[in-house]
Amino acid sequence: MTNGPTTGRARPVVARDGATGRRARGVGRSATVVAARGERDRDGDARAVVLAPKREIAQVSAKKAVAVEPVGKPAIGSTAAACGAAVAAAAAALAIKRASSGSSNSKKQKRIVIAGAPASGKGTQCELIVKKFGLTHISAGDLLRAAVAAGTEAGLKAKEYMDRGDLVPNEVVVTMVKERLSQPDCSKGWLLDGYPRSEEQAEALIESGIQPDLFLLLDVPDEILLERVVGRRLDPVDGTIYHMTFFPPPTPEIAARLTQRSDDTEEKASNRLSVHHKNVDAVVGKYETIMKTVDGNRAKQDVFKDIERLIKAM
Ligand code: AP5
Repeated sequence: MTNGPTTGRARPVVARDGATGRRARGVGRSATVVAARGERDRDGDARAVVLAPKREIAQVSAKKAVAVEPVGKPAIGSTAAACGAAVAAAAAALAIKRASSGSSNSKKQKRIVIAGAPASGKGTQCELIVKKFGLTHISAGDLLRAAVAAGTEAGLKAKEYMDRGDLVPNEVVVTMVKERLSQPDCSKGWLLDGYPRSEEQAEALIESGIQPDLFLLLDVPDEILLERVVGRRLDPVDGTIYHMTFFPPPTPEIAARLTQRSDDTEEKASNRLSVHHKNVDAVVGKYETIMKTVDGNRAKQDVFKDIERLIKAM
């Protein structure tokens, strides 16, 4: 994070260590500050960078410094110079504060798994989570559907299992998800949707050292799920998930282009549901300490409010 520099003709400033009151390393009494900016160091800790003409004179870790203040006589002796110093010093202090205040939330990447029965609302909530928190969304189902559509070897293998509503074999899905998680866009944090779905998949993640910080489980009664499945429609243009009763498309033009997933029939959904019930306890058992159950049988914005609160508390 870099806050824009604030410049000003300035008298010397000093950053003081909040604990000892001593000057922070690298700040000299004779330095003239012309700008200050807030940013993060390589460990993600906030710091203020104080600039003198043509050089950087100090990097003040927010862990240490709580105040940056002007000291000594104004270098030029004018009121304008003193004001400039005050502005620069205030900017440095503010920069530290701003960079620090976001640190508990954004410094640490958020790594989240979202689980739940078919049509419990995982994809719908992921849309909202991504919009709010900017995480990289990885849906195991979407990866598999893309492989099927592309006709890859993995896709050809996966198709018969997906058509029945069974779990795709681990040798296909584990590699696919692990490979996706290693992409650069996952370094900003990820949201894993529909994976792991079996004990073996959870173990494969753990063995690879891939550990989420939060495991969200959407809880929706079975009798609600089938109605959600058969009414679901997808917009191929922007990926929005609709429901013909609960979230109907807003215009006839959008309605005309919606598609239905081939496994969204009552028969296939019933099998997907029983596969879910067979496996969910074993998966949850691996993540008990970080698991939060969310009541998914409410309006989607109400469900999201709970999820948002849990993510902010991470
Ligand atoms: P996948 O695509 O992951 O399907 P799923 O788990 O069955 O989940 P869904 O996508 O059906 O539902 P959702 O929970 O995302 O609900 P949504 O938000 O869309 O997997 C498909 C297949 O791929 C599997 O069967 C398997 O074969 C294979 N596969 C996937 N992962 C695998 C893995 N890890 N290992 C092996 N195989 C794997 O919502 C559903 C509907 O409800 C929508 O119409 C929506 O508008 C509506 N809705 C959502 N929220 C609400 C609400 N609060 N109130 C009212 N309606 C709502």
